[in-house]
Amino acid sequence: MSIPFIDLKTQHRRVAAEVERGIQAVLASGAFINGPDVARLEERLAGYCGTRHAVGCASGTDALMMALMALKVGPGDAVFCPPFTFMATAEVVALLGATPVFVDVDPATCNMDPARLDLAVRAVRADDPALHPLPAHAGALTPKAVIPVDLFGLLADYAAILPVAAAHGLFVIEDAAQAFGATSELSGVARRAGSFGQIACTSFFPAKPLGCYGDGGMCFTDDPELLELLRSIRVHGQGADKYQNVRLGITGRLDTMQAAVLLAKFEIFEDEVRLRQDVAARYAKLLGPIPGLTLPVVPGGNVSVHAQYCIQAESTAHRQELLDRLTRAQVPSSIYYPVPLHLQPAFANLGYGPGAMPVSEALAARIFSIPMHPYLTAEVQQEIAAALAG
Ligand SMILES: Cc1ncc(COP(=O)(O)O)c(C=O)c1O
Repeated sequence: MSIPFIDLKTQHRRVAAEVERGIQAVLASGAFINGPDVARLEERLAGYCGTRHAVGCASGTDALMMALMALKVGPGDAVFCPPFTFMATAEVVALLGATPVFVDVDPATCNMDPARLDLAVRAVRADDPALHPLPAHAGALTPKAVIPVDLFGLLADYAAILPVAAAHGLFVIEDAAQAFGATSELSGVARRAGSFGQIACTSFFPAKPLGCYGDGGMCFTDDPELLELLRSIRVHGQGADKYQNVRLGITGRLDTMQAAVLLAKFEIFEDEVRLRQDVAARYAKLLGPIPGLTLPVVPGGNVSVHAQYCIQAESTAHRQELLDRLTRAQVPSSIYYPVPLHLQPAFANLGYGPGAMPVSEALAARIFSIPMHPYLTAEVQQEIAAALAG
């Protein structure tokens, strides 16, 4: 039997009856848009994350877009993002006419390096690329917001990032697309992904820790004014009534059908987060003794949901050797991410070149991912470890 990279079929068997019941109820109601399940899901997930409000939307990308629009980010604004992330994080910044300013990541956690964030903001203000690499025309920009990404299921270092953001007057938008369910201690109190910053955003893409059966996403906030703005932007900037448009917006709604799927899957979510811990602990035990592998780091006080299990090889050649061994053993693998965003052709206009973000570039050259999901058995993990050991 082939080994899945992410096993959505086993998961579906566990929730099938409840998902079908939920979908049938939506079909019977005819409320395909903004049905009661959307509000129910928003209430449940806000409660889970520990925020006052949640706004369901059509994808994680739309969640980020709506967050930036609600905070009135636009042309002339600098938005600080890590380059080692999925395209969407910085794409939405550029789509709104603002400028992504990339801040390199920590080599152990792969998340934004808070010390470099401070330097990058100072560099923009001083228009001094000697302080930190900057995009073209950075001197004309106003530092406006930072989007820390909780990469591969591990929360960014908010204990260090939030004070830097506060000192520079930056809005914080948490990109929790890969980390729903993760926790981190802040001042001794455990806080969930989705609760950091003025607005936090997540994705329900099927492969995410909490995934639906299509596209979906959500914004979280404690601020009632931002809540109203997000709700308005979600539906073409609507005002008091449907045909009054008081600002520009998007078609950003979450389908009721996807909300019904998520309500059913949320019932087993906490159990799945626990199972992910068991799988990660088994990998650490099996792979730890194999020379030349750097395994994911989870700093004290954190629970990662291990959206991906990413390993660093010693070099690009070593990675290729390991990937070949996996292929021969019919174990699927993937590379997140082979090209950091500052070197993507889509961002060529920013003028960053190779060497600008050395940590992200080194990670891109050496990192690879192996199967990771809550239903991975000890036997399959042993097979995967044996393949990597060669
Ligand atoms: C870090 C990050 N941000 C944003 C997104 C965008 O989410 P979606 O695919 O739901 O638009 C993703 C999805 O892969 C992601 O990994």
